[in-house]
This record gives sequence, structure tokens and C-alpha cells, in this order.
Amino acid sequence: MNRKRITALLGAAVLAMSALAGCGGGREGSAPAPAAKEEAAVEESTEVATEDASDAGEATATAEEASGAGFEEGATIGVSLPWLGTQNWKEAETMFKEQLEAAGYVPIIQAADQKVPQQQQQIESMIENGAKVIVVGPIDGTQLGSVLEQAKDAGIYVIGYDRLLENTSGVDGVVQFGSVKTGELQAQALLDGLKEVKGEGPYNIELFGGGPADPNAPNFFKGAMSVLQPLIDDGTLTVVSGQTDFTQCATVDWDNAKAQARMDSLLSGFYSDKDIHGVLSPNDGIARAIITSCENAGQEIPVVSGLDAENESVEWVWSGRQYSTVAKPTDALVAQTIDIINSLRDGNGMPATDVTADNGVKEVAIYELPPVVVTKANAKEVFANDPSRLELLK
Ligand code: BGC
Repeated sequence: MNRKRITALLGAAVLAMSALAGCGGGREGSAPAPAAKEEAAVEESTEVATEDASDAGEATATAEEASGAGFEEGATIGVSLPWLGTQNWKEAETMFKEQLEAAGYVPIIQAADQKVPQQQQQIESMIENGAKVIVVGPIDGTQLGSVLEQAKDAGIYVIGYDRLLENTSGVDGVVQFGSVKTGELQAQALLDGLKEVKGEGPYNIELFGGGPADPNAPNFFKGAMSVLQPLIDDGTLTVVSGQTDFTQCATVDWDNAKAQARMDSLLSGFYSDKDIHGVLSPNDGIARAIITSCENAGQEIPVVSGLDAENESVEWVWSGRQYSTVAKPTDALVAQTIDIINSLRDGNGMPATDVTADNGVKEVAIYELPPVVVTKANAKEVFANDPSRLELLK
């Protein structure tokens, strides 16, 4: 599944630089708000949007008109998120509201609780409410084709957020962190940690993947396996369970409890007389579930990778309980999305980019930011401009 094609480095380098500038939450007001406040924010923005429903007729512009015509300041912008089960999506909800309002837009922000029909309905209602742009983090990359094409037919721009929109012509571009690169960083951190914490190999390891419907998850796994497979082949790493296919390792719905149950059964089935040294984990919630399972089984904590720099995992990395995470700063991704929305509003169309991905139907423009690995050794440096995470390093 080598879907990503980098045709030139310049555009990516420019994006990389802008991402690094935003890395670690450098923008003001980027700290995650408490949960209660976030819920209030969604309801509020939904209400505003309903009042704005009289604009619905405006959504009838043709797709051709939309390609360069621009739209008015104060336009309605829809943001459809897959769920709020990990910190990155909660941050996205808060930051889209803050940053879209600051830029003068009227946001409708909704999250779909991992239910595809609910996400389809929420996007339909954004179309009816006259959104000029709909930003979508899909639950299932392949299941939104017809509703997104409906949006395009109504002259609405569609931007994928954090995850690719697959098998549809109804997408103008996708903003995301490099997903194969993320997996490479996770695997390299696992190897570095094994050397540092467990001494010389060989090492016993297990592999976990994310939710199989999420287009990021196979890419994270693919990137990781490109680093790990040669060492599995030469005997440095032993996957004691023998489970090395993505389908065996995936965690349906990114559900931490399912990952913990799988780890429990791997430990009881394969490790009653063995130590486990390392585990590849696709994100922080699953990392904490794996670590908890190992602790419960009386194992010494293995080296475990992660993703998202969630507050709890940043603390665990700092205390040595989780070896690494990968930071993909939400504020930078939201800011990048809003820069694109501003370009569309001003009639300048989608900005140029040299990175594209084949989504099964078309080559989609990708606006890619670089993920950054975090261990105890570099955490203070990575979070130097992120006061809320820096505060956790004590
Ligand atoms: C995101 C991760 C997140 C996961 C589960 C992925 O698509 O890139 O940041 O942990 O979804 O929500």
C-alpha cells in the first residue's frame, strides 16, 4: 500500500518548517480546555449554526463556481470529527472553535462517537446549514463517499483532517501528519528503548495496530514494520506470539479495553515462562493499556511506543513508565486547515502542494506536517513552547 507519492521536496519542506514553528503548541490559547468546557463549546456552536440555517439556500452554488469564486467573511464552516476518545480529537474540537471564531467564521463542530451513520447525518446537516467548507476526520476512510460527493455537488469544499478520505472524488485535499513516518518513528523509538533499557538483545516483542477502519492505522503499521521486519528476520527481535499481520494486531475502534484484553491473553498464552521486552503501540491510550496489562501480570514494564503526547502519557514518559510517544501538535494542524479555508474564502483555491496520495479514485493533495518523537531525553526541548505539557515534566 505505497499510496503516498512525493513528487518534490520543496513544498513539503516549507510545510515542515511551518509545522515546526507551530510544534509544541506555540500558538496562544492552544492549551486543551477542561472536558466540561469543551462539551459546552460544541453545543453552543451547533446552536449558532442552527440559527444560521436560513443561509441553506446558498449551498446550491455549483462545484465549478466553488473552484475559484471564494465566499463571504463570516461564512459557516463545518467540522466533523470521528469521536472524542483521544486527546487529539478533544483538542481539535476546542481549537477549531477558538481559531475559526477568531478568524471570523461561524463553526459547526460535531463528533460522531465512532458511528458511521451518525457522521454521515452530521455532514448532511452541515450541507443543509449552508457550510462553505466541511472539514472531515472520518471514522472510516471509505464510508463517506456519497455524502461528500453530495457536498461537492452543492459547491462546498471538503478538506480531510488528520485522516485520508478514500474512494471518493468528493475531497479537495487532506491535512495530516506523515502517517508512514509516524510508524517509522514509533518503531525506531522502540529499538532505541530496547537497547537503552533492556541491554543487548535478542528481544521478545509484540505488535499492536490501531483501528482497521482508520486509514492512518495500516500506514502507521506499515511504517513501523519497514523498520522492524529486517530485525525480526535476522533474529534480533522475536514476536513470540507469531502475530505480525496488521489484521491480527489491529485494535477495533482504537478501543483501549480491547487492546488490554488482547495483551492479557498474549501474556497468559505466550509469556508464562518468558519476559516481554518491548511492545509496538500505535497510540498513547493503547500504550497505557498495554503497560497496565504487563504490570497486572507481574512483568517488568516493557519498552512501549505511543502517539499523541497525551497529558497522561507525557507524565508516564517523564516517570519512565512509557518509553516514548510521538507529538503531532493539534494546534499546528488546525492552523494549517484554517490557512487553507482562508485561501478558499479569498478566491485563491487550494494552495499548491507537491505531495499527493492515491485515494482509490483520485490523486488527493496532501498538506503534510512532520511528527516528532518524544522520550524523556528530549521532552523538555519538544515542549519548550507548550506550557501545559511542560508543566507535566516535574
Ligand atoms: C490519529 C491519532 C489517534 C487515533 C485514535 C488516528 O487517526 O492520527 O492521533 O490517536 O486516530 O483516535
